[in-house]
Amino acid sequence: MTISPAAWEPFTLGTISLPHRLALAPMTRNRANDDGTPAEIAADYYAQRASLGLLITEGTQPSADGQGYLNTPGIYTPEHIAGWKRVTRAVHEAAGHLFIQLMHVGRLAHPDNTPHHREPVAPSAISADQDFFTPSGMQKTPTPRALTTEEVSGVAAEFVHAARSAIEAGADGVEIHGANGYLLHQFLAPNSNQRTDQYGGSIENRSRFVVDVARAVADAIGPERTGIRISPGFPLGALDEGGAEATRAQYRHLVSELAPLNLTYLHVHHAGDDELLGSIRELWPSALLVVRYGRERDQIADDLEAGLADIAPLGRWALANPDVVERLRLDAPFNQIDPDTLYSGGSRGYIDYPTLAQP
Ligand SMILES: Cc1cc2nc3c(=O)[nH]c(=O)nc-3n(C[C@H](O)[C@H](O)[C@H](O)COP(=O)(O)O)c2cc1C
Repeated sequence: MTISPAAWEPFTLGTISLPHRLALAPMTRNRANDDGTPAEIAADYYAQRASLGLLITEGTQPSADGQGYLNTPGIYTPEHIAGWKRVTRAVHEAAGHLFIQLMHVGRLAHPDNTPHHREPVAPSAISADQDFFTPSGMQKTPTPRALTTEEVSGVAAEFVHAARSAIEAGADGVEIHGANGYLLHQFLAPNSNQRTDQYGGSIENRSRFVVDVARAVADAIGPERTGIRISPGFPLGALDEGGAEATRAQYRHLVSELAPLNLTYLHVHHAGDDELLGSIRELWPSALLVVRYGRERDQIADDLEAGLADIAPLGRWALANPDVVERLRLDAPFNQIDPDTLYSGGSRGYIDYPTLAQP
């Protein structure tokens, strides 16, 4: 079944000309070296998917404390920058554009997964109480240490350093990860943020850190190179945003605060509240990327067609089909995803998914 022709209209994202309305959604793949340098095969993985036009990378830690999973990449040391240079060069040679997703995991972490073994940091000392993969098997996420007020602005500075490093590595921009239960989202949600300083309490205060990070990054590298991802109401990482009305109020405020920053895009991982998505569309002045949870293949371009989104990033289909764009154009079948190699496996399940030309 073919998708809506709305997918095939070109789009200008800030200063970037995109050939269509699809993109690569950010996906953690856990293939980085132990020091956080992207693996050599990461250049192949992203270059293979360059026909998606805009490639948003896997979550990448902006600092040592930003890491929570095994073998995720970083973008804060000279070695990280050198490693990402290989990736950006390969993607640009294949005519793609790369935004590095800056992901600080906050409390969704385990000390056994990091080289420094420090306890995780978060808005408040409240455990996510999640079963978490570690080298010795599944363990509960520990109770994090609450960041002091001074440390909160230090974390914003880490995002700035990482964003500058990403640009030095040749990236076209960065996506600030404000979604899916990680640090920024933990500041937004009342059940993970019980601070009594200017970063906690009211909707305005809980939004402050996210807006501070976005403003600081945009000031450092330019708003045209800065995107941000949110996931209103997604309960990932045991977050509870207090029901539909509270979530609407929270995100209408947040998006109104982000709007004047002129960021190049807002990326919504959409849990399904279409009334809220409609308000976000009205409030947001630039490009809106929407990944609608649970969509079927034939619905990929429905939000584009309806005018609710400008770009529809693809996750798992693009992971398993480096030529997903061609397959959608030709209405050809997709490769099946291999669940065993999503988060490990080296080259296997990473750069060996066949294209139509190599069945
Ligand atoms: C293996 C895997 C890893 C993911 N890692 C990230 C990540 O690092 N950052 C992020 O924002 N979302 C991450 N996601 C969510 C995807 O970006 C996307 O929103 C989700 O997969 C839904 O899109 P889909 O149905 O097209 O796969 C991940 C998803 C998968 C399947």
